[in-house]
Amino acid sequence: MNSTILIGGATGATGSVAAKLLLQQGFAVRALVHKNDARSADLAARGAEIVAGDLLDFRAVQRAFRGIKRAYFVYPMRPGLVQATTHFAQAALEADAEFIVNMSQKTARPDAESESALQHWLAEQVLDRAGTAVAHLHPTAFNEWLFYMRNMIRQGRYAVAFGTTGRFAPISAEDQGAVIAAILANPVGHQGQTYELFGPDELTPPEIAGIISRGLGKEVRYEKISGEQWVREVTGQDIPFLTQHVQAIAGMHERGLMAGTNNVVETISGRRPQSVAEFVEKHLPVWQ
Ligand SMILES: NC(=O)c1ccc[n+]([C@@H]2O[C@H](COP(=O)([O-])OP(=O)(O)OC[C@H]3O[C@@H](n4cnc5c(N)ncnc54)[C@H](OP(=O)(O)O)[C@@H]3O)[C@@H](O)[C@H]2O)c1
Repeated sequence: MNSTILIGGATGATGSVAAKLLLQQGFAVRALVHKNDARSADLAARGAEIVAGDLLDFRAVQRAFRGIKRAYFVYPMRPGLVQATTHFAQAALEADAEFIVNMSQKTARPDAESESALQHWLAEQVLDRAGTAVAHLHPTAFNEWLFYMRNMIRQGRYAVAFGTTGRFAPISAEDQGAVIAAILANPVGHQGQTYELFGPDELTPPEIAGIISRGLGKEVRYEKISGEQWVREVTGQDIPFLTQHVQAIAGMHERGLMAGTNNVVETISGRRPQSVAEFVEKHLPVWQ
């Protein structure tokens, strides 16, 4: 009998997919959710055990880890990542857990200009030394950016802080969830690995705008704006941590640090990663 798998961020983009896939495969899943809502009710209806708790509350994380051997760690793009990681690592150690999948970033590196990317690199250092086997995920930017940008895309604009020449291969949360589920279903061979996760096609921002235009059957123009303006337009707020990240990765994007593609998604999960065109087609009503 496999023991229960803990999925952090279980109502979020990657965690929800991993939780649902593991449930479909017959695994017992404990969903660590930030709050009880319609998303957690949906997971409960699919058979997940729901535990509400804050990753910044060590006692809550300890409780979530009771009896757990394998777990997915994800924390949103907000301050507090290293603290949350430390809680998760210590609670895993106390539970004598055997494996953690850690959501990081392609741009996580000791010299990252992005504070978020630097925090991810620090979090990896914590997990590498914390006594539980771990695999780190290094995705490039998600296709889900197109959801966050739904209003501007409806208005015919693909406005980003990225310049015209840098490339990246956008990856869907759905494909990442499949990778997470596959590793947690059978962690053999994944210990100590860092997996760069990409979609199938490296594209410039104007090329992405072209794909969206063709998918929606109307012109969606590429436009370069500042990180500050992007955050304000997309979230309706000024969020300094996110602005600093977006501005910093715009430079990293230009220098090729978000580029690349590989067959990791297919090798681990058995599924071909979604292209931008397929993502747009699948979620068409979002931008109409
Ligand atoms: N987006 C990208 O392009 C990109 C690229 C590379 C790497 N990443 C990394 O991917 C991660 C985000 O992954 P994702 O998109 O799957 O996440 P997400 O959709 O933002 O979901 C985060 C989940 O965590 C929950 N949560 C938030 N704060 C919490 C807390 N304090 N305690 C417990 N749960 C909490 C959220 O619940 P509520 O919604 O109820 O708060 C949500 O379920 C970030 O670490 C980011 O750096 C993102």
